[in-house]
Amino acid sequence: MIRPFSFAGVPGIVFGPGEFRRVHRTIREFGRHVLILTGLSSLERSGKWDELAEGLAEESIRWSRVTLQGEPSPDFVDDTVSQFREEGVQVVLAVGGGSVVDAGKAISAMLPQDDSVCEYLEGVGHREHNGEKVPFVAVPTTSGTGSEATKNAVLSRIGPQGFKKSIRHDRFIPDVAVIDPELALSCPADVSAACGMDAFTQLLESYVSTKASPFTDALAHSGLSFLKDSLVPVCTTEPNNIEKRAAMAYASLVSGITLANAGLGVVHGLASPIGGQFPIPHGVVCGTLVGAEIRINIEKLRQQGQDGHVALRKYAQVGALLGGKGFREEETHSCCDLLTDRIDEWTELLNLPRLGDFGVRTSDLDGIAQSTGNKNNPVELNPEEVRGLLLRRL
Ligand SMILES: [Fe+2]
Repeated sequence: MIRPFSFAGVPGIVFGPGEFRRVHRTIREFGRHVLILTGLSSLERSGKWDELAEGLAEESIRWSRVTLQGEPSPDFVDDTVSQFREEGVQVVLAVGGGSVVDAGKAISAMLPQDDSVCEYLEGVGHREHNGEKVPFVAVPTTSGTGSEATKNAVLSRIGPQGFKKSIRHDRFIPDVAVIDPELALSCPADVSAACGMDAFTQLLESYVSTKASPFTDALAHSGLSFLKDSLVPVCTTEPNNIEKRAAMAYASLVSGITLANAGLGVVHGLASPIGGQFPIPHGVVCGTLVGAEIRINIEKLRQQGQDGHVALRKYAQVGALLGGKGFREEETHSCCDLLTDRIDEWTELLNLPRLGDFGVRTSDLDGIAQSTGNKNNPVELNPEEVRGLLLRRL
């Protein structure tokens, strides 16, 4: 029996190596004045900025540019919006990693409003956004967060009272996502690894989520099947393999679609309090913890017997997929072991840092565990169990 579900939608998708060269045509469909968000200088270094500027000139599109270093804060969004609110911006374009795409998404959502983005941040403000925004085109240059397909933007304030909170609305899903795997060719190995493990975690958590549907299951399975033989090579021996970069770009895009519609698990619950207090990239938090999460979830699902069967079978299916073999019901337990072994292997090969490398101490774990929600984890973990999970990767 299919459980009731809803599906918020997907952006228009333009996918393929070289597509960035034609992004000005997509922009033209929305207007003649574009506000462009980018990182500090990587686009110049790759020569892609000149290409973009030439294309915009060809179409007589006026542009303004804002650069972002690090993760976007509410202040960054508010300052940019007040600078451009009266400028007649007709479309926002973000070209960069997940932080840049999130910043562009939040700015496109706030340009038509007249107050601070803090008013709309979940758990911070008290207003509900009406969904009105300036059209938004997302061009990811890393393969991981899936922000090019999601309906939320994460904003951060780092420090003892820090937070990572979302502004969210179904209409914030980008109007168009232009996915050009060539843009990820220059992505450094450690960033590729963190982002790739984020995409993996998003696909897996949404696949076993309590909110998963046959629709998101099909997508998550498809994303995992492309990711499985590409993640390690693009981070180690084959960074310039465009076929594998394309597989990772596809997996990332799909992970955004599945997370937006099926939800996530306890590792993404942990990403907010950890990322708010410590300067750890989101993908590192997810990548370093996902192996421990799988282990504890599988342990608890096994204890539940028949009640845990559906999620356990899904973990086993992913284990079989990653192990390159067909899934057979009677091999559920050995396929779950295959999954945990493979993730341990990836964690090792990708050299994923531990939480302690970023200043997290044993004494911090209780506070983190207490402030974590289970999200749509397939089993309920109590704070003591979450603490145990964290301890494995301290
Ligand atoms: Fe994530």
